[in-house]
Amino acid sequence: MKTFISTPIYYVNDVPHIGHAYTTFIADMLKKYQVLNGNDVFFLTGTDEHGQKIEQSAKSKSKTPKQYADEISEKFKNLWDMFGIDYDYFIRTTDENHKIAVQKAFERMYQKGDIYKGEYEGHYCVSCESFFTQMQTINGKCPDCGKDTSLLKEESYFFALSKYQDKLLEWYDLNPECILPLHKKNEVIKFVQNGLNDLSITRTGFKWGIDLPENFNDRHHVMYVWLDALLNYVSALGYGGQEERMDFWKNATHIVGKDILRFHAIYWPAFLMSLGLELPKHIYVHGWWTRDGVKMSKSIGNVIHPKDVSDAYGVDVLRYFLMREVPFGQDGDFSQKALVDRINSDLSNDLGNLLNRLVGMSEKYFDKKISSKMTTKFYQKELDEIQIILEKLPLLMEQIHINRYVEELWKLFSLANGLIAKYEPWNLMKENKIDQTQGFLGLIANILAKGSLFLYPIMPRTAEDIATCLHVNISSDSFVHLVSNHQLLEDFVIKKIEPLFPKVENFKMAEVDFLKPPQEDTQKPISIDDFSKLDIRVGTILQASKIQKSDKLLKLQIDLGENKPRQILSGISKSYTPEELVGSQVCVLVNLKPAKMMGEISEGMILASKDEEGLSLLRVEKAKKNGSKVS
Ligand code: MSP
Repeated sequence: MKTFISTPIYYVNDVPHIGHAYTTFIADMLKKYQVLNGNDVFFLTGTDEHGQKIEQSAKSKSKTPKQYADEISEKFKNLWDMFGIDYDYFIRTTDENHKIAVQKAFERMYQKGDIYKGEYEGHYCVSCESFFTQMQTINGKCPDCGKDTSLLKEESYFFALSKYQDKLLEWYDLNPECILPLHKKNEVIKFVQNGLNDLSITRTGFKWGIDLPENFNDRHHVMYVWLDALLNYVSALGYGGQEERMDFWKNATHIVGKDILRFHAIYWPAFLMSLGLELPKHIYVHGWWTRDGVKMSKSIGNVIHPKDVSDAYGVDVLRYFLMREVPFGQDGDFSQKALVDRINSDLSNDLGNLLNRLVGMSEKYFDKKISSKMTTKFYQKELDEIQIILEKLPLLMEQIHINRYVEELWKLFSLANGLIAKYEPWNLMKENKIDQTQGFLGLIANILAKGSLFLYPIMPRTAEDIATCLHVNISSDSFVHLVSNHQLLEDFVIKKIEPLFPKVENFKMAEVDFLKPPQEDTQKPISIDDFSKLDIRVGTILQASKIQKSDKLLKLQIDLGENKPRQILSGISKSYTPEELVGSQVCVLVNLKPAKMMGEISEGMILASKDEEGLSLLRVEKAKKNGSKVS
């Protein structure tokens, strides 16, 4: 079967972060799973390069929008290549064939009677590239991101979205799984039931967008960036041109974050209906990755760079963590501690150890030669148990319960570890039960072989390593043989590989800047009660020293008027030497949860301001007693 899977196309005003990597990993996982299941998959990703936001970002860097887009688009592409993302096509909305497709679509919608000219009057959020009525804003701020909106009054072409309200409701109704998780679908239904306004689909007042088709003779209009962007899904398949890949469109799945659900679940199906194209089969909606509870974004400065994580721990660990840690659809908070805990328990103890034990025993008892000939005779009950677990996995994947899929898969590995403890193969050998031991190792090897096929979409490199060790191919043929047909791997020689996932004793990544200056215009207003939760006090730095292996962190001992000084780690090493800090009074957030970094505990955070020239510590104007409150 031909299927289509897409990520959203990424705005080029931001370098890739964990949130982008998450969306891409999920799409890549689906592709890998479907390919194993014998489907012919077209996996699309790319970059969204037009619009006012990009034009402004480029200007602030003194670049042309195209130069700027070229640079950032390349960063996304390189990262996905480095991560082994199996995309089939990387689209850029500045591609010529995409522009033509968008103009063709505009004309077709116009001919259908769905586009008319009028005047838009209302609010616009440049950051979300989204229109709002006065009522929808929160005191003039964007209800989605909290930033200031601008008031627009300009000539515009409109798409008759209101015409599609009932058809959309019918689509949601007739297709129970078109939007998953279901609570997200229900949000969309409510929104549509409340009534849809027609949508402004052209903008004037800036240039960086696709022109209207020439025959409209309206050179000062450019296409609304979301109309342009959404059409990437079909322009990449040849829509408006040769249509050479449009047959993939019959089975389309989009992966999107919750912030862009409205665009995908309302505007996009309405555009498709207008164009007479089929609607997507699934829109899978995930939550946000936050840092200390705040959505990651460049403007807030709390971004975790996926490459930093993969350099420190490996890309498979990052994939595993993101997919295992939170239920799909919910928000998750990224923490290095949680990631290291996962490595040490799930990956090292459960999986790495299991493979090591199999390799060790096969070497010790059978010169690495494994046979499963005796497995069915002695271990049929266990084989049945394995089958029960394996049979649960496809449905979990189809319903995008990814963390449960991983949990269930891990039951397989735990089962194998439990069986080793139960059957104690070393005692079987002592008792000279050679056939039973052979059969047992054949059982464990088969658990790992079958498990590696299901692991592949989640951790492709690890699955390949296990498969190499067991002489299995990760392929749809193996899937048919070992999974669909319930066969066993029979005689093979184990190939020794490096142990998987040694335990991690110390954090490998310096904890990135705790010093993230909240930027007024990027956050929703807080109340005085919120502010009073922060306990900020004056303290004197008694000692300061560098931390080995970290070029950012300094270790400080600070007198805060308590019975002993506190140890605080601070990412200020690039701006201050230890010597110049000793004796200084600084402001310290003292009621921050203690955190461990580079094996050292930190009990608070010193405050500093940051710009492109570096950091500057916040100090009191006149000396104050240590422990004095800052308010
Ligand atoms: N360009 C639009 C999408 C157009 S698709 C026709 C866009 N781009 S984006 O770069 O801002 O976001 C792309 C995807 O990354 C979205 O699915 C978004 O939800 C996801 N993430 C961005 N930040 C995120 C987190 N902090 N956490 C999880 N995913 C988030 O929107």
